[in-house]
Amino acid sequence: MKLRQKIVAGNWKMNKDFTEGIELTTSILEKLDDTQVLVILGTPYIHLQATAGLLTSYEQIKLAAQNCHAEEKGAFTGEISVPMLQSVGVEFVILGHSERRKYFSEIDESVAAKVKTVLAHGLKPIVCVGEELAVREAGEHEALVASQVETALFHLSPEQMEQVVIAYEPVWAIGTGKTATPEQAQEMHHVIRSLVKDQYDTNLADGISILYGGSVKPHNAAELFNQPDVDGGLIGGASLKPDDFVSIIQSF
Ligand code: PGA
Repeated sequence: MKLRQKIVAGNWKMNKDFTEGIELTTSILEKLDDTQVLVILGTPYIHLQATAGLLTSYEQIKLAAQNCHAEEKGAFTGEISVPMLQSVGVEFVILGHSERRKYFSEIDESVAAKVKTVLAHGLKPIVCVGEELAVREAGEHEALVASQVETALFHLSPEQMEQVVIAYEPVWAIGTGKTATPEQAQEMHHVIRSLVKDQYDTNLADGISILYGGSVKPHNAAELFNQPDVDGGLIGGASLKPDDFVSIIQSF
C-alpha cells in the first residue's frame, strides 16, 4: 500500500467557454462517488472563480491554474499572478507543461522561478517534465528529464520540495493516443524518484507524488496507476469527457 497521495489532475488546456466549463464540472461532480483520490481540475483562468464556488463542499477536489507569472504584480500585460490565483481559491499550479515550453518559450529556469513564487504563497506546483521522441530514440531521455528536474526543482529546501507534485509527460505521448507502456512509465518515475532521493532523502522521495501524463484513457489508466512509482495521472483530452475522467479516477 503506497502512502503517497494518489492524484488525478485534469488539464483542460484552452478548451470550454464559460458555460461549457460549468457544465463539465457539474457533470463530473454528479458522476463522482466518494473517493480517496485527490482530484484536481486544471481549468482556464476564466473558469477558476466560478468553479471554486462549485467545489466548496468537495474536500477531495481542488483547483489548478495552468500557468502563472513569476512576479507578484506589476506591468506584465496579459499575465496572471500567484496572489490573483490564490484570491479565487486556486491551490495548485501546473508549470512547465510541454506546450508552454514549445509555444511560449518556457524553460527550466523560468519554471524554477515560478515554482518559487507558487510555494512562497502556500500553493503547490505540479511541475511537468518529459522528453521529445527524438531524445528518447537517441537514448537520452533519462539525462534530459534529470536536467529538467534538477534545474526546475533542486534549488528548493526539503520543506519546499515536500509540497511539489511532479508530472512525467513524454511529449510523444501527449494528445497522440500513443501512451507510454506501464514499464516505460515506471522506469522513468523510478529515475525521477531516485534523483529526489539522492538530492534530499528517502523519506522525502517516498512521499512525493509523481503523475504520468500522455494519452491516459479509461482503458489504460489502471495498468499505469498500478506501477509502484506511478501515483496518478495528468489527464488532457479525457478530462474533457466526464465519463472518461471519472472512470480514470475510479481505476485506482
Ligand atoms: P493528453 O494530455 O491526455 O491529451 O495526452 C496530457 C497533458 O498534456 O497533460
